[in-house]
Amino acid sequence: MAENRKRILSGIQPSGALTLGNYVGALRNWVELSKDENYEAYFMLADMHTITVRQDPKEFRKNAMDLLALFMASGLDPKRSPIFFQSHVPAHAMLGWVLVCNTYMGELSRMTQYKDKAQKHAANLNAGLFTYPSLMAADILLYQADLVPVGQDQSQHLEITRDLANRFNNAYSPTFKVPEAYIPKVGARIMSLQDPTQKMSKSDPNENGYILLLDPIDKIVKKIKRAVTDSGSEIRRGEGKEGIENLMSIYSAVTNKSMDNIEAEFEGMGYGDFKSAVAEAVVETVRPIQERYAELIKNKDYLKQVYKSGAETAGRTAMKTVSKVYRKIGFIEP
Ligand code: AMP
Ligand code: TRP
Repeated sequence: MAENRKRILSGIQPSGALTLGNYVGALRNWVELSKDENYEAYFMLADMHTITVRQDPKEFRKNAMDLLALFMASGLDPKRSPIFFQSHVPAHAMLGWVLVCNTYMGELSRMTQYKDKAQKHAANLNAGLFTYPSLMAADILLYQADLVPVGQDQSQHLEITRDLANRFNNAYSPTFKVPEAYIPKVGARIMSLQDPTQKMSKSDPNENGYILLLDPIDKIVKKIKRAVTDSGSEIRRGEGKEGIENLMSIYSAVTNKSMDNIEAEFEGMGYGDFKSAVAEAVVETVRPIQERYAELIKNKDYLKQVYKSGAETAGRTAMKTVSKVYRKIGFIEP
């Protein structure tokens, strides 16, 4: 295969069940990109990030294996792209510390995800929540990634990653590739079905606001039918149409139809018909994923083989960068 292939790295935290937002904003695009011969992709379960919020160990292990199975059920092929747990590759902690020492308090205090989480987790406002972006930068820079496919909410973290790469390259010598975010045009920010001003999130106290990839099919249909809309009747984008527009984005993402085509398709039809179509399209996407997941999760030996071999490949790539960095900053070679 071509040696000048572009590198891709991305990750999701195993912090609970995956939402349709995660799938549409991130995972779906990983699958597309990973099939492209021009890219060499690495996919990570960001478990070291997850412990910035206290986890119940048993539940944490279950979430981690579930997410691994869902990565593959969604179409990631471990033979093409290594899939690994962050905690299995020591290079992340090794570069993470170096980058913590190159990140300013001021820039970390400006991170919106930190400000949000600081409010939500006021009782456990640990230093890891604050330095999270430095570790995320290490995740990316270790692999000399060109492209990082994520949802809109991660764009600020990508900016700080670029700043850190440039800062290090300027202070020492060119070491890191400066990565670009890859944010989808449609579906980068799927909103809550109950409040289209809020991002769809599994931490929403109202479970009708989000759809989980592993929700029972009838529940998914009900949640879509109950989604808030507006007092009008047209299927189109615009001021005051945030609920409908959100459903349109979901529909667009799972059918690959453009927003313009969707407006044309549903011209003159009512919200009820539109919601039925959205529900059907979502179910068509989710059902095969659920079926593959059910098979994969039974096969613990296979899952183990996947994450072990993923960590070996990822570790080799990542350690090359760590060695370079350690030499440049002046650590004595062991
Ligand atoms: P998280 O679950 O917050 O760790 O997010 C994992 C990935 O899913 C990241 O790339 C996010 O940007 C993406 N993501 C999370 N929520 C949404 C959403 N509501 N819409 C689109 N993408 C999302
Ligand atoms: N911070 C990301 C999130 O919450 C997860 C993540 C950790 C990540 N390291 C990464 C995403 C590296 C992309 C690249 O969704």
